[in-house]
Amino acid sequence: METTHVHAHHNDREMADHSSINEVVIDLEAREAPWEIGEGKRVTGWTYNGQVPGPTIEAKVGDTLVVRLKNSLPEATTIHWHGVRLPAAMDGTQVVQRAVAPGESFEYRFTVLDAGTFWYHSHTNETVQMERGLYGALVVRGADEPVVDAERVLMLDDVTLGSRGDFAKFSGVMQRHNGREGDVCVVNGHADSEVTIAAGQVERWRIVNAASARYVLLSFGGRPFRVIGTSGGLLEAPITMSEVLIVPGDRVDIVIGPFDEGPTFPMQALAYNRHAGRRHLERFATVHVGAARPSLANIPRRLRTIDALVPSDATPTRRVRMGERLSLRNGMDFLINDEVHHNDKPVTVGELQVWEIANTSHMDHPFHLHGFFFQVISENGVATAHRAWKDTINVPPKSSIVIAWMPDDRPGNWMYHCHILEHHAAGMMANFAVVRPGDDASMVPAVGHCHV
Ligand code: C2O
Ligand code: CU
Ligand code: CU
Repeated sequence: METTHVHAHHNDREMADHSSINEVVIDLEAREAPWEIGEGKRVTGWTYNGQVPGPTIEAKVGDTLVVRLKNSLPEATTIHWHGVRLPAAMDGTQVVQRAVAPGESFEYRFTVLDAGTFWYHSHTNETVQMERGLYGALVVRGADEPVVDAERVLMLDDVTLGSRGDFAKFSGVMQRHNGREGDVCVVNGHADSEVTIAAGQVERWRIVNAASARYVLLSFGGRPFRVIGTSGGLLEAPITMSEVLIVPGDRVDIVIGPFDEGPTFPMQALAYNRHAGRRHLERFATVHVGAARPSLANIPRRLRTIDALVPSDATPTRRVRMGERLSLRNGMDFLINDEVHHNDKPVTVGELQVWEIANTSHMDHPFHLHGFFFQVISENGVATAHRAWKDTINVPPKSSIVIAWMPDDRPGNWMYHCHILEHHAAGMMANFAVVRPGDDASMVPAVGHCHV
């Protein structure tokens, strides 16, 4: 299972003030291409540069990414940089840019400020475009990452194949309700993947859940591993676990090994009851432990310090309710504060946000905030045990979590939504503006809706 790395031009540019900025220049062409999922499973994918996932983009903190998107698909598209703290205009949603029409190009340009495992994906007609393969990973490295013997990016996804060797058609009300869970699980675009790790070595696996709706309760047949990072970069200290939940849109960085030579074990998603869809075990890949090799790995006990934004009993400044309502036309509508495609109040730069996110529906929803990291400070009134930066968090039914985040000086239109793509499309999303003190929200260009 190889991940393909992008051929980027790294330009060290001398600036007028003699500091240098490093540009990472990438051309991404969105186009149809054959996608070889496995034995006898070949479909026409929608790809970046002919591959699924798209090329892994690698950068260092402080680099400027220049991504030239050319759209050769039969329909309009945009790229969202999931988790990246970029300027609003580069966020890739239809509230900040006109979708890039077939034959057109668009240049995304932004500086990456944070180390972590991020990803990019289409933010137009996502239930179709992401299902067909329009996603890839973005890895940003900091100055002092833990030392490992090898590193991998593993993008998890699932697809539903029809009988004639292509994608099954979207099947209406049930898929809108539950979210689409495919019957073929893939890692980096391939079913039945095999991974070999050398005995004695320690690897870092950056795991991305790119599936539309599938919850991945990741397990290696009960073998322990160390979680070192979340969607917002490194934790304060590694946490040893034997299973970890990765909801759609989210990422987890783990350190795995060392193992003794010989065993073969599954990389699997254990049954998880999200109160919708399937709930049985699925195998994503098979891991083999090969011949021993020396290890140079060094995983410090302290990875970094994360200061708490607020005390765990801080009073919420805003309530966000994720709900549902029966609909004659659609079966079910998915809501934010009782509305489909909600327009939420603006937030002001520099004013600390404490949001209570309540799930009044009967199923789990993965809440995702664009452009800003948050800290989860409590879940159902219980303070969160481990401090972490995140951009996606699961909210189980009939429960509420409190998050805190700080709008830094990046005014413009942003959004939050459920990352089950069918729920986002069915209305469980909101637009809101970040405004500078003294400016009023009406100065931000009008926000449109994101309809699918
Ligand atoms: Cu992965 Cu609107 O997000
Ligand atoms: Cu949802
Ligand atoms: Cu949206």
